[in-house]
Amino acid sequence: MGLIQWATDPWGLSVPIHIAWFLIWVALIAGIAFLIGHVVYVRYFAKPRQFTADPPTPSETEIPERVARHSIAARTFHWIMAASMLVLLFTAFLPKAGVQFDWVTYHWIAGTVLTASILFHVFHASFWLDFGSIWPDRIDMKDAWHRTRAFFGRPAPLPRRFAKYPLENKLYHGAIMIVGTAVIATGICMMFRIRTIFFTRDPYLLSDMTWGTIYVLHGLAGVGLIALIIVHIYFGVRPEKQPITKSMIFGWMSREFYLDEHDPARWIVSRQQASRTPVASRSED
Ligand code: HEM
Repeated sequence: MGLIQWATDPWGLSVPIHIAWFLIWVALIAGIAFLIGHVVYVRYFAKPRQFTADPPTPSETEIPERVARHSIAARTFHWIMAASMLVLLFTAFLPKAGVQFDWVTYHWIAGTVLTASILFHVFHASFWLDFGSIWPDRIDMKDAWHRTRAFFGRPAPLPRRFAKYPLENKLYHGAIMIVGTAVIATGICMMFRIRTIFFTRDPYLLSDMTWGTIYVLHGLAGVGLIALIIVHIYFGVRPEKQPITKSMIFGWMSREFYLDEHDPARWIVSRQQASRTPVASRSED
């Protein structure tokens, strides 16, 4: 039982054509197993989260009651991307599970929407948002080491509160960025194999071996996204994460949640700054 389906080309060479479709079920089961494992861990084994002594808190009047987290542009991007991602997943995999319909048209249209929304996001994040806020920094790495030691019962100092994004969110963003780039790059190439409004169809553009490799990479990235999206939705609906999910709808989180989870020295939001400089608006990514 291989991970790839092969065929024989007119010259008798073995060429890859697709991933083996059982991988859909592997990804689905892996995603569901992760969330069951996490529920059991949180319910029976996890210790209450502790952070290092409270950081010097700016006076209450300095922190607005509603801390701006995501601008309207960032939220619109997120939900367009989420909708196109779900359409892509369902149009790609339902036919493989036996639900037959003309999926290719819906699929390439959703692929185009996803590609456009990602291009917008890269541009927006590079010039308007705080580009550095989503990449792990030195404190994240140090705290991750301390948290790992504590997990195994070894002595370790308590971690600091988070900057705008916890390390887990930053790592997830990195993973989805790599897998998303792979599925988009291969998807754009695959548009030459079908009829769209963008290119003249040319299935002979590349060799069978190259096309096969592109289809396999697209399929692998696609099934990877099944597991990644399950995990993302699961964390989005977990009760303790709901303030974060709500901030992706309404744009803000409460001052209490901000002070409980975030270190005001690592994610600076203050009333004064909001009115004085564009930094605060840059922190609304
Ligand atoms: C969540 C993201 C995506 C998933 C899960 C996904 C999954 C898939 C799968 C499983 C196939 C069938 C591949 C095969 O037969 O080996 C496919 C085909 C295809 N996908 Fe995607 N894809 C995604 C994103 C995209 C994007 C972003 C584009 C365009 C930019 C795209 C364009 C295409 C095209 C043109 C085909 C070929 C259809 C054909 O040859 O009949 N896909 N996709």
